[in-house]
Amino acid sequence: MTQKLDRRLALGGALALAACQGRAQATAPAVLPAPLKTLVPFPLGCAVMTGQLDDPGFVQLLTTHFSQITPEFELKMEVVLREDGGFDFARPDRLAAFARANGLGFHAHTLVWYAEAAPAFQRLDGAGKAFADAYRNYILAVAGRYRGLARAWDVVNEPVEDDGSGYRACLWRRNLGLDYVARAFHHAREADPHAVLFLNDYNLESSPKKRLAFLRLAEKVLKAGAPLSGLGSQSHLRWDLAPGAVTAAVRDLARLGLPVHISELDVSLQDGRFNQTNRQARVQRQARLVGEASEALAALPAVQRYGLTVWGLRDGDSWLRRPPNAGDGTDAPVLFDDAGAAKPAARALIGARV
Ligand code: XIL
Repeated sequence: MTQKLDRRLALGGALALAACQGRAQATAPAVLPAPLKTLVPFPLGCAVMTGQLDDPGFVQLLTTHFSQITPEFELKMEVVLREDGGFDFARPDRLAAFARANGLGFHAHTLVWYAEAAPAFQRLDGAGKAFADAYRNYILAVAGRYRGLARAWDVVNEPVEDDGSGYRACLWRRNLGLDYVARAFHHAREADPHAVLFLNDYNLESSPKKRLAFLRLAEKVLKAGAPLSGLGSQSHLRWDLAPGAVTAAVRDLARLGLPVHISELDVSLQDGRFNQTNRQARVQRQARLVGEASEALAALPAVQRYGLTVWGLRDGDSWLRRPPNAGDGTDAPVLFDDAGAAKPAARALIGARV
């Protein structure tokens, strides 16, 4: 069995080489000595969409290497809350059932996000108590449905302004004040007594100012007595991020003593400057950043290592290869290439452990 697996993993490397040729410089194949999830000292997650579950190659690669899934978008309000105010759980239920059937952890994403303000809530804009009641009911219904299965929830997603100058104006804040954040945590805890409840945001590595604003919000919510119990850094990185930035961010987040989640890791190879830097050099920088993220998390006390989640299984699955983010269509931001072969970033994730 082990022998068969090893052969398949190594073979993947050869396929990777073949797939790269003709498109860009060939990248040295990465050979994985064993499934990734067995080689890192924390749960290893991957973003998944229901459509992918019909692809046996996807399922095989996913379940070989990962121990947890996050619904990439099908547990968001845009899918779950219908225009008439009713719920549609068909797609997240399928992901949840898949996780259960395969013994995978289920990281639930996301309850409250500035970017999603469903018509059913827009109709209540300015309605005072009716808005607050609907807010609570939504969280109770959605988080309640996966109680017992969800290991955690991203309760509030992306609350901090991009420049770190403050917190986003949004439907939730307009109706509930900044207290919408603390309230969401209270409601989520009411719905699910055991899930780890996360505050989650991006650019915390590249912008220390945004990181500070994020941490201030976390402290404020905790001081208000809300049951925030984890901090998530999405970690949508770019290949030229300075070495050390990821480590600094993980350490800063860990200072509050809560579990830390590298929640949506990908490393874009685009540079906005016509990709002048040699692709192979960018691929190596990508691998180093993934290695740094893995090491930074591994360096935390065991109770604070909630996990590391990669935002897509194969490069072709990545949101950075789909409109509106597709760019020139050549980005390759995750651990496995289009053919499912391990890239240097996959090898870097396990670092010196093997
Ligand atoms: C992205 C998904 O990958 C896409 O499929 C969707 O169309 C838009 O959202 N931060 C988040 C994620 O918290 O929910 C986003 O996911 C990526 C950025």
